[in-house]
Amino acid sequence: MEKNHEEPILVPEEEVQQLIETLEKTSTSLISTNKLIKYEGFWCAASDESLKNILKFQRHFCARDSDLIVAGHPKTGTNWFKASVFATVNRNKYPKLESPLLKNLPRELVYRLESQIYGQAYPRPHHVDELPSPRLFSTHINYSSLPESISTTGCRILYICRNPLDTLVSLYYFVLTIIKKRKGDEDYEPPSLEDFFEDFYDGKAMHGPYLDHVIEYWKLSLERPEKVFFIKYEDLKKDPENHVRKLAEFVGVPFTMEEEREGVIKEIIELCSIKTLKQLEVNKNGTVNKFLDYKHFFRKGEVGDGIHHFTPDLVERMNKLTQRKLQGTGLSL
Ligand code: A3P
Repeated sequence: MEKNHEEPILVPEEEVQQLIETLEKTSTSLISTNKLIKYEGFWCAASDESLKNILKFQRHFCARDSDLIVAGHPKTGTNWFKASVFATVNRNKYPKLESPLLKNLPRELVYRLESQIYGQAYPRPHHVDELPSPRLFSTHINYSSLPESISTTGCRILYICRNPLDTLVSLYYFVLTIIKKRKGDEDYEPPSLEDFFEDFYDGKAMHGPYLDHVIEYWKLSLERPEKVFFIKYEDLKKDPENHVRKLAEFVGVPFTMEEEREGVIKEIIELCSIKTLKQLEVNKNGTVNKFLDYKHFFRKGEVGDGIHHFTPDLVERMNKLTQRKLQGTGLSL
């Protein structure tokens, strides 16, 4: 799919080092050795590589009017949403039984700009010019840190968010899996979910503070509804047909009466369901790297699972924080 181009040097190493020196740093229960740094109000990994990738993305990505960017904080269902957008946009390109989603993890079809395009590990800056329109990308980056052209062009953003406790539990188990594999030590005593709760509550998670991430995109969706399609994981789960229909309208490819009659929306929902994706050979056996398998992107996929992991006190604390932060925004989570 891609050519083996040599990556151009896009951001000088010394500049990244100097910038890191000036940034606030913290550690968390799950990432104690690999600290976080706060860049433009949001936490990212304290490695030169992560920051460099973000800077490259910020400085070198030029959005086009027709671009579609799937955005969301990690573990809010971004792969599900990527699959749904991909299947909707490309529905006439592939016969039903030949959908690339049957052979690829959604993240391999909708590259993440700051890592899979501008990242060191998978450098594909050339890829941005090779993709046919509409180009489909994804990002975990907060809205205020996105390259200016995303805001100034007609490029559209599709944002998914999720209830904070479900997001936090999902993130905990995901990161824990990676850490355990990295440690490779059977006796390793992992940090507790309660410790992770405190970090997440304080906003200390990659791409956090979580609620600030959500609020930025939510406000933009109110100011520029033609620019942002904003959806909650819970709503997509409850009424997928309605939301996939709206999604298609938003991206300019509404379902025709004939497609409605033929049940095309239902087919897309079925294809992108966790039940289908989880049992595909590729998602059962594929690996991102030696610490992360494709199967780790599909855990339970339920609404409200998070609440069962915490004491009523902790649930109430998170609810109060959420209410306080969202007060006056018109959004509830
Ligand atoms: P849980 O850990 O709560 O099960 P992301 O894709 O942003 O990494 O989010 C991962 C979460 O989305 C996980 O949640 C995962 O199980 C869930 N998920 C993955 N595919 C899904 C699908 N097709 N439908 C609903 N949820 C899905």
